Amino acid sequence: MKPAIATKNLTKEFGRNRAVASISLEIKQGEIFGLLGPNGAGKTTTISMLSTLIQPTSGSAQVSGFGLERQDEIRKAIGIVFQDPSLDDELTGKENLDFHGRLYHMPSQLRAIRISAVLKLVGLEDKAGQQVKTYSGGMKRRLEIARGLMHHPKILFLDEPTLGLDPQTRRGIWDYISKLNQREKVTIILTTHYMEEADALCDRIAIIDRGKIIALGTPTSLKDSLGGDVLVIEAIEVEKLASLLNGTGKTKITAGQLSVTVHNGERMAPKLLAIAAKHKIKITSLSLKKPTLEDVFIRHTGRTIREEEASPLDMMRVRRRAR
Ligand SMILES: Nc1ncnc2c1ncn2[C@@H]1O[C@H](COP(=O)(O)OP(=O)(O)O)[C@@H](O)[C@H]1O
Ligand SMILES: [Mg+2]
Repeated sequence: MKPAIATKNLTKEFGRNRAVASISLEIKQGEIFGLLGPNGAGKTTTISMLSTLIQPTSGSAQVSGFGLERQDEIRKAIGIVFQDPSLDDELTGKENLDFHGRLYHMPSQLRAIRISAVLKLVGLEDKAGQQVKTYSGGMKRRLEIARGLMHHPKILFLDEPTLGLDPQTRRGIWDYISKLNQREKVTIILTTHYMEEADALCDRIAIIDRGKIIALGTPTSLKDSLGGDVLVIEAIEVEKLASLLNGTGKTKITAGQLSVTVHNGERMAPKLLAIAAKHKIKITSLSLKKPTLEDVFIRHTGRTIREEEASPLDMMRVRRRAR
């Protein structure tokens, strides 16, 4: 099967700023692929090139089998949900969808059929006749996703689909995204700086930072690459315990706490307690830390994803979305 998207050394420079620095990757048909990275990492720039909105400085890409110069073919094959809201507030949900269908020269009968199908997919049938300005932030986002699907794209780009939404609404959107990936058999490329979102939703993730891919794989393989779970133990005789547990996993003492890196922490915890009991060492606390994608990011960059200050533009986006 041909990949949905393949890029080779894809690069975009804005003046002296290399926003995207030689990205090469393959995205399979039907997968949900995530570009995860902090603000300014180059996520939007990457999607903008793949959706033919801006031209790369160098490198190449194939989208649905077409080189980037085949703008018309690519635009028919893809749907996009932009980072910034782009609905007409004065129109109803249905009218927004109909307008989009007309732009794609869909005949009226087909538009009507498709409008009910996509509204159903995102659970907005009941609101279809209301003006968009009466919608909540989450409903607007769902309508934008529905609109991106109107013309039956093979590939759907979602740029920060849940930016600025509250956690509960965010989870709702995740459900809709995985449902439409299955029902519509559409390949989804989404960008996010929320690691939980990438973890919950994506089949594979490319973690990007400063325009480069720093890690790529399934959420599980990325987290496994850190070497396992960490059991953090507080005990009176922490040094002695550390030497006893040396064979069990990698041990390290920091600030009087012993951390043991093991595979399958849930199963190892009782064994570890048994060893301590056998040697009459009193454990005062035990906690299990499962690695997160944030830990993967930290391992590769030495920084946290959240450390980057949100830009004023992003703050504005969050406020606008929340309304
Ligand atoms: N149109 C533009 N002109 C100049 N610089 C830009 C433009 N778009 C993005 N950039 C810069 O490129 C880098 C990557 O931006 P962007 O792709 O928007 O990141 P992300 O979507 O990951 O937050 C940033 O340094 C940003 O300031
Ligand atoms: Mg962006």
